[in-house]
Amino acid sequence: MTLTEKIRLAAEWIAASQRLVVLTGAGVSRESGLPTFRDALDGLWARYSPLQLATPEAFVADPALVWGWYEHRRAAVRRAAPNPAHIALAELEALLPQVVIVTQNVDDLHQRAGSRDIIALHGAIMRSKCFAACRGEPTLVEVEELPDAAEGPPRCPFCGSRVRPDVVWFGENLPAGALQRAAQLAEEADVMLVVGTSGAVQPAASLPFVTYRAGGQVIEINPVASEITAIAALWLEVPAGEALPSVVEAVRALRGEGA
Ligand code: OAD
Ligand code: ZN
Repeated sequence: MTLTEKIRLAAEWIAASQRLVVLTGAGVSRESGLPTFRDALDGLWARYSPLQLATPEAFVADPALVWGWYEHRRAAVRRAAPNPAHIALAELEALLPQVVIVTQNVDDLHQRAGSRDIIALHGAIMRSKCFAACRGEPTLVEVEELPDAAEGPPRCPFCGSRVRPDVVWFGENLPAGALQRAAQLAEEADVMLVVGTSGAVQPAASLPFVTYRAGGQVIEINPVASEITAIAALWLEVPAGEALPSVVEAVRALRGEGA
């Protein structure tokens, strides 16, 4: 099948969807200039050790190092803008009865592109919280308002513990309710569109399998094969920013015809 034929077929399935779930990973933000985790050359985990930067133990061992790394990543997220893939996904909302974005990304590019129903499985890098969760999980803290934010992790204004990013680290649970809702939506989805994830991290990677086993169709957009590709009924082997605008334009044409 040619790419044009695949785009056409993807658009037909999506245009007929009553309950679409979109699972995204770092690949969807790649064309905004943000690095992925596992790409061999420029992936974050090729340059940094997850165990030294993305675990509670790492934060306790060297809070300034970990905080500095997240400051660096937050600066990159602030500089980045949504790309045509984020924008096309946001535009889908107006065309279909239900579109929910389930993202593993901690950047805020889906939000900034205008998507409204977003489940952020791994938290939000722009938010900070008390490491001790002194007022419950999460105890959010406005870092900009704290005096010592430039010198390593600030202190929690309620209890004096260190402040940390509100992201999920290795060995931690996903935000309460997020996984349950995502799993429920995956079960009910008639189509799951998987964009830019290697499918290497659980439990997020299990969601397309939930849809597949429940009889839904999985469509994948990724220039490289992933752990999900084997169950994808359709694989668009191109960057998200190239494929998604065409797919969404074709969905719009199909929905328009029916209206
Ligand atoms: P990975 O780095 O594991 O995978 C990124 C995927 O994006 C790869 O399959 C690439 O082929 C693909 N990709 C690259 N450029 C693309 C493009 N322009 N369009 C579409 N796809 C592209 O990132 P994730 O799967 O998101 O966890 O990683 C999952 C989790 O692992 C992350 O959320 C993070 C990390 O450890 C936490 O921080 C908890
Ligand atoms: Zn606290």
